[in-house]
Parts: sequence; structure tokens; C-alpha cells
Amino acid sequence: MSTFTIDTSTSRATPSPVPGKRMTAPSIRARKVDGKTEQPIVMLTAYTMRMAQLLDPHCDILLVGDSLGQVIYGLPSTIPVTLEMMCAHGAAVVRGSWHALVGVDMPFGSYEAAPEKAFESAARIMKETGCAAVKLEGGEAMASTVDLLTHRGIPVIGHVGLTPQAVNVLGGYGARGREEREAEKIIADAKAIADAGAFCMVVEGVMESIATEVALKVAAPIIGIGASADCDGQVLVIDDMLGMFERTPRFVKRYDDLASRISEAARTYAAEVRARTFPTADQTYRPKT
Ligand code: KIV
Repeated sequence: MSTFTIDTSTSRATPSPVPGKRMTAPSIRARKVDGKTEQPIVMLTAYTMRMAQLLDPHCDILLVGDSLGQVIYGLPSTIPVTLEMMCAHGAAVVRGSWHALVGVDMPFGSYEAAPEKAFESAARIMKETGCAAVKLEGGEAMASTVDLLTHRGIPVIGHVGLTPQAVNVLGGYGARGREEREAEKIIADAKAIADAGAFCMVVEGVMESIATEVALKVAAPIIGIGASADCDGQVLVIDDMLGMFERTPRFVKRYDDLASRISEAARTYAAEVRARTFPTADQTYRPKT
């Protein structure tokens, strides 16, 4: 069991507010009533404790996405991401949050072979992180897996459309569903995953008309990314929306330009160290007088 509360006696631990009641899979699912979601679901990715603390008051769901492979580890895709990575970051995000539901991505290779294999991996993620849901990619082919997990106590977030773990089959990260056959398949995938019991699902990188139709026809809440404003909620990768990268997909809106601000802070620090103007008396220990 590696879920701990934050030790607030360490200097960098910002105490969390009094713990309240966390969002749950049923409370998220219940936001969509008769095909409509009054209050859109807010989801962001988070990979670390401190970022979770900052995002948590504003989000319904914090997703520990396997995008951490690229964002945190500099890997070329999400394919090499391991269960160990997801468990370590998942536990950190749970420790840094008290309000949002934390969902953790099942990494490539940890669930596709069989529903029982998926159960073992998902159970490990839940035990080691304390998260309340897992996310897996795939449509009709994953329906029996979603069914088994949800009937054995594991809430599932689906993920259809552009599924990055299938990049080698898809041939790239371009938007999906430009042709009618593929559009119909994505809609069928979404229905299959919802019918199997997913309490919500991510629809990524699809033609807007597909996302609109899925949001209209599928009973579970649809969380869009590169999809449509008509979805029941939206998700973005946190580092993308904060402007940490020079290149981002077209569907990303940058709400800040942190990359420039971090570079500028590092440049100023380096100049002060070289000029011996840092540290000053304010940052130096001296005997008390
Ligand atoms: O891995 C991830 O961050 C995701 C989101 C983009 C939905 O799957």
C-alpha cells in the first residue's frame, strides 16, 4: 500500500484544506440526465502532487494520463509507459487532491490480452494509488473487459476516437472519422463501451459531427478533447494548456506561456549566480543576535 497523506512538517508540503467529500464515479455519471449535462465536467491531466493540489479545486476529474510518457519522461509515444510509472504518479496525484475523482490510465500492454489480465492490472493500480477509476483505450473490442471490470468493483473511463496507444495501427495522430465508415465505427465503439458500463468516456481527435452525435446518443457523459463544445465535458493535457511546449495539437488552447516564464526565471537566476548577487543576506543563515 503506497498511499500516504502528505507530511505537512516538510517545508514544501502545502497543507490541503480540510478534506471534503470527493467526486465519485456515480456522481460524475449522474451529471448527465436524459442526454443532457447541465454542468459540464471539467477534467485535466495531472502527474505530480503539487500540480494536483493546484488543479484539484477547479476540476471534477484529475486524469493521470499515460501522456506522462511524453510529458514527464520524454518518451516518443505512450507505448513504453509502464504500470510502475502509472502507480507512482497516480499515488502522488491522489496525495495531492481531496475533491476531484482521480482516474489513472491503464498503460499499453497491461489490459488488452484478456479481461482477467485487465482486472489484475486495474486492481494493482487501485491498491497502489488509491484512485477511484481507471481509463482504458478502445471500443467494441474492449467491451467485455469494461463489463468485467465494472462488475468487479472497478469504475472505468472509456477512450475512443484517436487512441494514442494504437498509433502504430492508426499511422499517426491525425483526427479520426473523416470517412463515413470510420465515423460509424467510432459511434459504435462509444455505444459499446457505455453499454458495457463505462461511467464516462473520453472522445479524442474526431470530426466535430461525430462528437456531437456521440454526446447526443450515448447515455454516459462524453468528455471531449479535440472533439466538440457540445460534449458533456472537456479535458486537456495540463502541460499543453499551460504553454510548456512549443508545438501542440490544433485543439489545444494555451492559457499561459509557462515555458517562456520558466526560461526567463532560470536566465535571471543564472545571471545572479554568476554576478554573485544571489544569495543575499535574506537567503543566508547567520547567528541570531
Ligand atoms: O493520456 C492522456 O493524457 C489522455 C488524455 C489526453 C485524455 O488520455
